Amino acid sequence: MTVDLPLLPLGRGVDLGAERGVECPGDLPAASDPDLVARAQAAKAALGERVFVLGHHYQRDEVIAFADVTGDSFKLARDAAARPDAEFIVFCGVHFMAESADILTGPGQQVVLPDLAAGCSMADMARLTQVEDAWDALVEAGIADAVVPVTYMNSSADIKAFCGRNGGVVCTSSNAEVALEWAFEQKQHLAGGGKVLFLPDQHLGRNTAVLQLGLSLDDCVVWNPHKPNGGLTAQQLRDAKMILWKGHCSVHGRFSAEVVDELRATIPGVRILVHPECKHEVVTKADLVGSTEFIIRTIEAAEPGSSWAIGTELNLVKRLADAHPDKHISFLDRTVCFCSTMNRIDLPHLVWALESLVAGEVVNRIEVDAETEKWALVALQRMLDLPGRIAPPA
Ligand code: 13P
Ligand code: SF4
Repeated sequence: MTVDLPLLPLGRGVDLGAERGVECPGDLPAASDPDLVARAQAAKAALGERVFVLGHHYQRDEVIAFADVTGDSFKLARDAAARPDAEFIVFCGVHFMAESADILTGPGQQVVLPDLAAGCSMADMARLTQVEDAWDALVEAGIADAVVPVTYMNSSADIKAFCGRNGGVVCTSSNAEVALEWAFEQKQHLAGGGKVLFLPDQHLGRNTAVLQLGLSLDDCVVWNPHKPNGGLTAQQLRDAKMILWKGHCSVHGRFSAEVVDELRATIPGVRILVHPECKHEVVTKADLVGSTEFIIRTIEAAEPGSSWAIGTELNLVKRLADAHPDKHISFLDRTVCFCSTMNRIDLPHLVWALESLVAGEVVNRIEVDAETEKWALVALQRMLDLPGRIAPPA
């Protein structure tokens, strides 16, 4: 049983094997430098086809302006894999996404994360030693053979590798339903059917199992890695269909059912559109639920004059509001709430990374070791092979 659990979203050098970031090792241009845009343009032009810049939807506008392609974590993983000729993949997103890009790209390609402090607090909530402890408890309870581990893309490469080694799969918010269906199918021949260990986001796991697969809340238990045996009895583990890891997104976890009620009372006809990382009580009150790509497509297809309150990261909500002035778009929280680690990537870091590449120096390379890569790829490939992965907008 692992008891120490420092959360390492910004890195303290405590556990170098865990998902975390560290301070920028280079000489950053000043944020006030009036030539930053011109410098980024010049560096990108100098690198030409050798570089491919990916931008997650939660990135700042100043960074998105230089992305060759934007997307959610699933789309960006596929986009990275589809550019075998690019020598450098500059990933404007967070650490686990850059790891996935490294796994999915060829050996001659190098993935760069402009700021290594761009980690993810959710990914930090599941460390390999903790997950191995949990698996040992499942073995002891006599149920490990019935369990398929499913990890959200928002997890470190070693957790993905754990899933690959143990017959499991990766999923994203775009394909969690079909990934869970696949996982249960793997064990449907067993007398009591199968079970899923869902890592690390309890909310995505619960929302998908209950709202899309029709399981009940009683079918779900929460494994708390800080408690002996996850805080569960062997019987509770045997009775459960979904064993949810006690992890969450600190950004999406802020949205509340109370604010949903408040907005419904104050904005006539408002439709509530949220990401499935939100809490169950928020998702059940929402009109529509889906990944960031789904949220974008829904707003693009919405009628002029319609009103929306969106529960996802603020950079994306602001960009949608700017791009659709004919629709009334509000943020589903009373306070400003950016993802602090996504925001670590700013124009100075991007300029520094690109100019270093021009100078022949690859900085902040994200490289997954060969053994981890082999098994993580198994789990990622199972995901890429799933049928009908992206739901159309409602
Ligand atoms: P998607 O990009 O899969 O929608 O995930 C949201 C998120 O929180 C990324 O960190
Ligand atoms: Fe992690 Fe949440 Fe930030 Fe995504 S939005 S990177 S899940 S903390």
